[in-house]
Amino acid sequence: MRLAVFNQKGGVGKTTTTINIGAAAARQAQSVLMIDLDPQAHLSSIHREESSGESRDSIFSHYRDNRPLSEIVSEWPGIGNIIAAHAELIKVDSLYGKGPAILNKLNLGLHALELTHVHQMTVIDCCPFLGVLSLNALFAADGLLVPVASDFLSLRGAQQIDKTLTALEPVLKHRLARRYVLTRFDRRRKMSFEIQARMVDAFGEDVCNTVISENVAVAEAPSHHRDVFSYAESSRGAQDYAALFDELSGSGFCDKAVHPD
Ligand SMILES: Nc1ncnc2c1ncn2[C@@H]1O[C@H](COP(=O)(O)OP(=O)(O)OP(=O)(O)O)[C@@H](O)[C@H]1O
Ligand SMILES: [Mg+2]
Repeated sequence: MRLAVFNQKGGVGKTTTTINIGAAAARQAQSVLMIDLDPQAHLSSIHREESSGESRDSIFSHYRDNRPLSEIVSEWPGIGNIIAAHAELIKVDSLYGKGPAILNKLNLGLHALELTHVHQMTVIDCCPFLGVLSLNALFAADGLLVPVASDFLSLRGAQQIDKTLTALEPVLKHRLARRYVLTRFDRRRKMSFEIQARMVDAFGEDVCNTVISENVAVAEAPSHHRDVFSYAESSRGAQDYAALFDELSGSGFCDKAVHPD
């Protein structure tokens, strides 16, 4: 399954969710590919503090030079594979953003990669704005996971995303299966439960029952270049992400492969 992790709002836990849902899948013996599609390259810097510095070794060269993804993919010990980002990705919109073909570029690249590499779970970490890169993720994805931090502005962000997806449906030619997951959930705050209730009102069964708690191990793991399971296996954060993966796969969401060829 190809899962895009997207929310136009920044800092809601997209990168955190990408690495930890990827790690949760790997713990269930799934072969995992993570794609960093954000010019900020946060996921890539968790993978490796010092990248080669070469945009040639990143997904940017798939856009600039048509480089096959199979030549860019690298190992992430304990999880599987990663395709790294580069700051130059910021140029994709202005340099290559014209014409409909660009929107399908990641999708076609993944089709080619899948001929030689088997990944049961591909997780795509998106940037916090809707441009060519995020549209590429939505066009390539079988499903969308929208992290929503448990605060008022994130709720507004989720409503905005729903409108965006509705507007995109005629172009995508199908309704993209989606789940919303509340992140940074603080059980001591009434507001967390209020946001949860309003999310369920607005999006019903598309809201995951599992919430991701505000958790220190989740916040600390990236600075050790780790996912939360390898950093603090018994932490609340590890339990939450394991439960989220179980919920998504148990509900059949991860088995959906609705993407047209
Ligand atoms: N459950 C959590 N508990 C504690 N801290 C968290 C949790 N989830 C995310 N964070 C922290 O919140 C910050 C933002 O998270 P993250 O980078 O994953 O968001 P993002 O949506 O990817 O941001 P951006 O839009 O900039 O790409 C990070 O410092 C991260 O460590
Ligand atoms: Mg991020």
